[in-house]
Amino acid sequence: MKIIKVADYDEMSRKSAEMFYHLIHKQPEIRLGLATGSTPIGFYDQLVGFLKSEEVDVSKLLTFNLDEYIGLKQNSPQSFYAFMKEHFYQPVGLRDDQTFIPDGTVQDPKKESEHYEQLIQQAGGIDIQLLGVGTNGHIGFNEPGTPFNQRTHEVKLKESTREANARFFDSKDVVPTRAITMGIETILDAKKVVLLASGERKAEAIYQLVQGEVSGSWPITALKNHPDVTLFVDKDAASKLFVNES
Ligand code: F6R
Repeated sequence: MKIIKVADYDEMSRKSAEMFYHLIHKQPEIRLGLATGSTPIGFYDQLVGFLKSEEVDVSKLLTFNLDEYIGLKQNSPQSFYAFMKEHFYQPVGLRDDQTFIPDGTVQDPKKESEHYEQLIQQAGGIDIQLLGVGTNGHIGFNEPGTPFNQRTHEVKLKESTREANARFFDSKDVVPTRAITMGIETILDAKKVVLLASGERKAEAIYQLVQGEVSGSWPITALKNHPDVTLFVDKDAASKLFVNES
């Protein structure tokens, strides 16, 4: 695993966006796996800036998001689709046929999960997958205890995750209870994985990833089985690593 220690959130956002920008520039038909949440907002800001200032051709790239809530309309402000539209699809000018995200409005999430897997396979797989991490070590919505051999599937969200995400809603009560997420096996199939972690809340998960054992209690440790992971970690999120280092 390549660990890039940075000072703070802004440096994490800029450096990781630079990496994606160079890859998109080199391979315009790249297939990106993308994430939502607070962590990648700065990354998207920076990446949009780089892509626009250099007038990079984005007409051939494809994006696949990790997850979506079940039960929210696409145009609900809290849907992950709405997040992506605001932070990436619209500012960069991606067409609808370039952007994929599980459809959380369907009657049959199992069928939708299988369909989503097929879409990824038909596109030829994901070249680079962006990830954030939950304080409990979840990746996508793969919560502690999730088997590592799952593909895209429906999940029941842990109360701790609903509480953590309540900040985007009027109250915790209205945070959806279910979601569709890429499985850990789907994530591990990406050729490259890039993980962003900022803030002390993420320090334990990052410690488990870097210095812990592979364990179902910390889904993030599944990344130890991937050959090409780059971790951009700021000082606070790295605060439990290598305690002897200053
Ligand atoms: C988002 C996702 C989640 C988040 C994680 C961290 O698509 O899959 O795993 O990456 O919950 O969220 P933030 O960045 O808000 O701390």
